[in-house]
Amino acid sequence: MKARDWDQLAAAYDDEVCDIFVRDRKKVIARWLRARGLLRGNKTLLDLGCGIGSFFQRYGRHFGEKTGTDHSRRMLQIAARRCRAVPACHWQQADARGLPPALRDYADLVVCSNVITFVSAAACHRAMRETVRGAKPGGWLLFILPALESHDAVVALESGRPIVRRKSATAIVRRDDRMQRFYTAAGARQLATRAGLKSIAVQKVWYPWSDEGLARPPRGQEPPWDWMLTARR
Ligand SMILES: C[S@@+](CC[C@H](N)C(=O)[O-])C[C@H]1O[C@@H](n2cnc3c(N)ncnc32)[C@H](O)[C@@H]1O
Repeated sequence: MKARDWDQLAAAYDDEVCDIFVRDRKKVIARWLRARGLLRGNKTLLDLGCGIGSFFQRYGRHFGEKTGTDHSRRMLQIAARRCRAVPACHWQQADARGLPPALRDYADLVVCSNVITFVSAAACHRAMRETVRGAKPGGWLLFILPALESHDAVVALESGRPIVRRKSATAIVRRDDRMQRFYTAAGARQLATRAGLKSIAVQKVWYPWSDEGLARPPRGQEPPWDWMLTARR
């Protein structure tokens, strides 16, 4: 999707896109941030593809200087408005596949949530490399990636057919008229390994069934999830 498509989606974003920082009911993300000491000491924060500023809104007050980038001007305008009570926020229009030089080695924590979903695998690897450059050496990175296993489980449930067996670590999935790359846990890990990251971990961040359009949670089924990929530069 191009920046102007995201501009158009921006106003309806709250309704159209699952906000994982709000929907993370089991508080997997908060626990990880706390356990790494990232919510103390005014750490520097960079959010690449920040959208309407959901991460800053939820966790921003625990950090010091913080910059959110996005290629969509409209997303940035909404983010700035929503986060006006959050101190030390800076906003910059930039493509995730080309980090502005001033943001190199910038952050103690880089967040990149539901952005590295490009159809082109080369674009994903490029965005990944650029994201890594935004972290200080030894700094942390937190990625949220759409989970292919979760998608396949939901499709199987809805269709009544068995879960498909896949050979590939990633796949292109159509969601709400958007083609996006989804990752298996192994695919997420490979992305980080290829970018030269260390201390790589992949864990589930569950979100409610209602975000998959199911009003009533199916009995005995694990809720859907995104992958949280964390690593150190
Ligand atoms: C699904 S939204 C996620 C927003 C936010 N990170 C979150 O998790 O709430 C994807 C965001 O990435 C931005 N985006 C997509 N492709 C991009 C690119 N090539 N460069 C910069 N931003 C991009 C979109 O404009 C949108 O704001």
